[in-house]
Amino acid sequence: MRGIILAGGTGSRLRPLTSGISKQLMPVYDKPMIYYPLSTLILAGVQDVLIITTPRDRPTFEHVLGDGSQFGIRLSYCAQPSPDGLAQALVLGETFLAGRPSAVVLGDNLLHGPGLGTSMHSYETASGATIFGCWVRDPTPYGVVEVSADGRALSIEEKPLQPRSHLAVPGLYFYDGTASERARSLSPSSRGELEITDLHRSYMTDDALRVQVMPRGTVWLDTGTVGDLAAAGEFVRTVQQRQGLAVGAPEEAAWRVGLLDDGELASRAERLTGSEYGRYLRDLVDQETSTHRAGA
Ligand code: G1P
Repeated sequence: MRGIILAGGTGSRLRPLTSGISKQLMPVYDKPMIYYPLSTLILAGVQDVLIITTPRDRPTFEHVLGDGSQFGIRLSYCAQPSPDGLAQALVLGETFLAGRPSAVVLGDNLLHGPGLGTSMHSYETASGATIFGCWVRDPTPYGVVEVSADGRALSIEEKPLQPRSHLAVPGLYFYDGTASERARSLSPSSRGELEITDLHRSYMTDDALRVQVMPRGTVWLDTGTVGDLAAAGEFVRTVQQRQGLAVGAPEEAAWRVGLLDDGELASRAERLTGSEYGRYLRDLVDQETSTHRAGA
């Protein structure tokens, strides 16, 4: 399974913060925003990730994340010439995916909680598409899915004025090898974008869309507005202070799934000496023996 992170867009709702820097590189407490979805992909078992960004921001992403070896994976980059919609990522990534299954994650989504670790490996072999439903008070800014009692998708709509459920669709999607072909046949929506929700509707029409309702303890935050960004930072700070365990550390995720061994993790930590983040990585190996780990 290959991974795609969508880190394009103009970040207009975060201006002037985003006047010079990509939204997905903004700090969420102690890490750049993209570290969180990157960790999610690594936990899902992905080792090859394509980062789709804007022409302006591509060099900065390459500078920050490099070739991926810091995280025990391979990273490549692609620029989306203009913000023409999330589903366009599957078209831009067609050669990279080469018909393989994919895990696609939005660069401004933060997911944390049970079931979001190594159990996601199983989606690699599933046919069709798997998306998630997460209960939120106000689903109107999101994709909204309506699910039958036996877990089938009954309807899916993008930013409905009158939502049919409280289940918003977070930006983490698993697709079989047909996603690029399906995305190519979509037409732009009224806002001129290739909508990810239309891609999901294509799977739904073929009875190939599965929806997993996230357990109530799952935390899904997006960081689209300044208020959301501050709230996400506060969440990360609270959990990390209390537990002493990081949220969204890709080096740690890679170590927990076996992509980095103890020595490799220590050398990654070394490069970050001087920061709390570096000290956290350095101490992980000593703190947790193989029989006493905090789990992925
Ligand atoms: C996008 C998707 C939407 C999804 C949301 C999750 O919306 O179009 O279906 O629920 O991400 O963050 P956007 O944030 O681009 O408006």
